[in-house]
Amino acid sequence: MSDRISEVQSQALEAINNASDLNALQEVRNTYLSKKGLIPALMKEMKDLPKEEKPAFGQKVNVCKQEVSEALDKKQQELEVAATALKLEKEKIDITLPGDSIRIGTSHPLMLIQKEVEDLFLGMGYKIAEGPEVEQDYYNFELANIPQDHPARDMQDTFYIDPNTLLRTHTTAMQMRELEKAHGQTPIKLICPGKVYRRDDDDATHSHQFMQCEGLVVGEHVTLADLKGTLEFLANKMFGEGRQIRFRPSYFPFTEPSVEVDVSCPFCNGKGCNVCKGSGWIEILGAGMVHPHVLEMNGFDPDKCSGFAFGVGLERVAMLKYGINDIRNFYINDARFLKMFDRFD
Ligand code: PHE
Repeated sequence: MSDRISEVQSQALEAINNASDLNALQEVRNTYLSKKGLIPALMKEMKDLPKEEKPAFGQKVNVCKQEVSEALDKKQQELEVAATALKLEKEKIDITLPGDSIRIGTSHPLMLIQKEVEDLFLGMGYKIAEGPEVEQDYYNFELANIPQDHPARDMQDTFYIDPNTLLRTHTTAMQMRELEKAHGQTPIKLICPGKVYRRDDDDATHSHQFMQCEGLVVGEHVTLADLKGTLEFLANKMFGEGRQIRFRPSYFPFTEPSVEVDVSCPFCNGKGCNVCKGSGWIEILGAGMVHPHVLEMNGFDPDKCSGFAFGVGLERVAMLKYGINDIRNFYINDARFLKMFDRFD
């Protein structure tokens, strides 16, 4: 009888040994240890034995059961470790493979120019002012010395929203807001960059939307020479050292005197080329001394203070600086065009 026990035990151990995965092992466990399994069946045979053999037999079956169950547990653990290792191997990530590259946008060329101008003026102690693009006629025109029937209104074809509300035609509107806010207190030293709108037909050099940056300085003894020095500094920083500027008389209702400002051509150094149309000069901005009437309307005493103002078109600066020949490129947003500016970022 005890041979039977040994036989069952060695068969069980062999089956355990041969089980190649967890399912197979579970089957072995069922075959030998479940209620109707072979080892409990041996136990049941005990009742047919003579009384004196029962204890030894029972003990042997118990030992057999314990050894088989220990072997099962041990094997189970081994198979589980192997299964985890296999899973890890299968799901292994090769971290040396190059990743998918994510395309990152670049700064818009106009933003690059705006930032450059802002940094320059911040360095000279100017502050940066902001204002609304949807503006009141009052700030865009009235306070800037352009009353209702003034012919200068025709210079800037305006998008009106209602008779008193418009899309600002120049950043001068922000200057007027700042002058009003100052309540006659000087000094004022600020620049106001921003989008402006005019009813222009779009072509290579005109756009119904464009960007300006205006500067305004008001204080005691501010002169045209201060304006010239400031603009010379700007021209040298934006277009390279050695630039000269010249003033030509002009007209703006909010400045007196008013000037048109040319910079010596950065492409031919003033000798004459096709960019400057042979003249050696390129017009870059309008400027002048703040009109005494504008100072007065905004609560300043023109006998005690004076000021200069200038306004530069940022597209024009960007076109000259980066050699762009069609203003529409700034607004079409062709990624191939925009991508070219990542090296300036
Ligand atoms: N506002 C003028 C324009 O839009 C530019 C300018 C600003 C001229 C300040 C003189 C002084 O053309």
